[in-house]
Amino acid sequence: MGVDSPIISLRNVRKVFDGTFVAVDDFTLDIRKGEFVTLLGPSGCGKTTTLRMLAGFDVPTSGSIFLNGVDITNLPPYKRPLNTVFQHYALFPNLDVYDNVAFGLRNKRVPVEVTKRNGEKVTKMKKLSAEVIDQKVAKALALVDMEEMEDRSIQNLSGGQQQRVAIARAIVNEPDVLLLDEPLSALDHKMRKDMQLELKEMHKKLGITFIYVTHDQEEALSMSDTIVVMKDGAIQQVGTPENIYNEPVNAYVADFIGESNIYNATMVGDKKVRFLGGVFACEDDFPINEKVDVVVRPEDVILAKPGEGVIDGIITSKVFKGEMYQYIVNVGRNEVLCRGTKNREIGEKVSLNVESSNIQVMHKELTSNLYPDAIINSDGRLEIGEASFEVDLTQLLKGSKLEGETLLVDNKTHKQYELKNAEVVAEVALDKIEISDNLEIGEARGIIVSNVWVGDHYQYIIRTEDEEDFVADSPFSWNLNDEVSVHIKKEDIRLRLKKGLEEYVVL
Ligand SMILES: Nc1ncnc2c1ncn2[C@@H]1O[C@H](COP(=O)(O)OP(=O)(O)O)[C@@H](O)[C@H]1O
Ligand SMILES: [Mg+2]
Repeated sequence: MGVDSPIISLRNVRKVFDGTFVAVDDFTLDIRKGEFVTLLGPSGCGKTTTLRMLAGFDVPTSGSIFLNGVDITNLPPYKRPLNTVFQHYALFPNLDVYDNVAFGLRNKRVPVEVTKRNGEKVTKMKKLSAEVIDQKVAKALALVDMEEMEDRSIQNLSGGQQQRVAIARAIVNEPDVLLLDEPLSALDHKMRKDMQLELKEMHKKLGITFIYVTHDQEEALSMSDTIVVMKDGAIQQVGTPENIYNEPVNAYVADFIGESNIYNATMVGDKKVRFLGGVFACEDDFPINEKVDVVVRPEDVILAKPGEGVIDGIITSKVFKGEMYQYIVNVGRNEVLCRGTKNREIGEKVSLNVESSNIQVMHKELTSNLYPDAIINSDGRLEIGEASFEVDLTQLLKGSKLEGETLLVDNKTHKQYELKNAEVVAEVALDKIEISDNLEIGEARGIIVSNVWVGDHYQYIIRTEDEEDFVADSPFSWNLNDEVSVHIKKEDIRLRLKKGLEEYVVL
């Protein structure tokens, strides 16, 4: 095998639960030896299932997994040179640090060559000697900076220290690949930041392959060589952190990775795109009149004097962030998130420009409606622009119920989360947008700005007065410029919180 051949290859891996639910779909990926790869995506997108198939705890419904070119799809876990650090690491509470780490080694048997009395050499499976176990445990504990803590009981350790023991236990067998499933999610923010750096250091020192799972984009950006962005069990994009941040392939990735301004836009000429009512030069070539999504990172918006940029706006919000200010500029009814070092005032008129290379133009995803800037209002309804929809908030936490309009309660832990004003990303399938000419029926009103016959049905774009688009599949015929209302059933709106649920916990 060549030096560049992958240590792990997944080929069209698919996992179906209960015969119908597709948790992982057509997952194909090569992982190089020594690489730090992160699977990134929201809760429920199939990260853990992928990791469990790598570890051998789950068997793919179809597709194959190779390790150094050998098919291991059906190999039991203990025969794989991998080890896993789980989200909920189960240490043995009645054992001390040393015994927790040594546990696996004590049961391990390794081939040893012994010489019989007649001079014949044979290989026997023998337990490791106490001395060897001692050396290995000491080395693993040193790697996680816990060498002084061998005799401490597990109950007396902080969360961060317990996490280190869990990692030491996973690396003590010197696996070729370490699988880490949200290993830092139980730690507080500061501890998480420290452990991120330490894990990165550990990866360098160990020189082994890390496959890391997280829903935290910042964590993924700061630690990984390669990020795999997932959604609904499928890979959206694979690339370096820089590549994914600067060149997202679609609005979903752009929104998930870092803060961004995402707009509906139209190609109006050769490398010219219109959004926010202005025409900007861009570097991507799309057919004229094509509807596209445009992404502009806040740090790439240039603030100029009124009239000197492409579009004018008014500063409506200002937050001091240490090295710079973060502003929201309203352009008509749209908001533009920007940054600048100059101290400006709320109410100040400014003009905005963006360099052509900083405008990322993407094919519009017409597979679903994505609303990255929605919020939960005080009535527990979902606000998309100026329209509000009834929505099921309990989907944000399995096994929860709603008290009042906006208080989510965990049935098991009784933890409470106040979701009033929570920022969410809402998603609605195209065939779940119901169009009616009775303007009183729906929650939003708009004009049909596009109607396309796609084989066996029409696809419409309904644009509201505040420039929200609803893309709808319908068998019925409507005319361009018809005013219609849009209704979405409660159960057809999928929600994801922009921040973690813990941000909303009621103390
Ligand atoms: N054993 C199982 N049986 C049925 N559904 C499952 C099982 N394991 C996971 N799922 C479902 O598969 C989806 C992906 O789960 P998971 O891989 O745990 O996601 P993630 O780790 O990205 O949060 C979820 O909708 C989850 O409910
Ligand atoms: Mg998971």
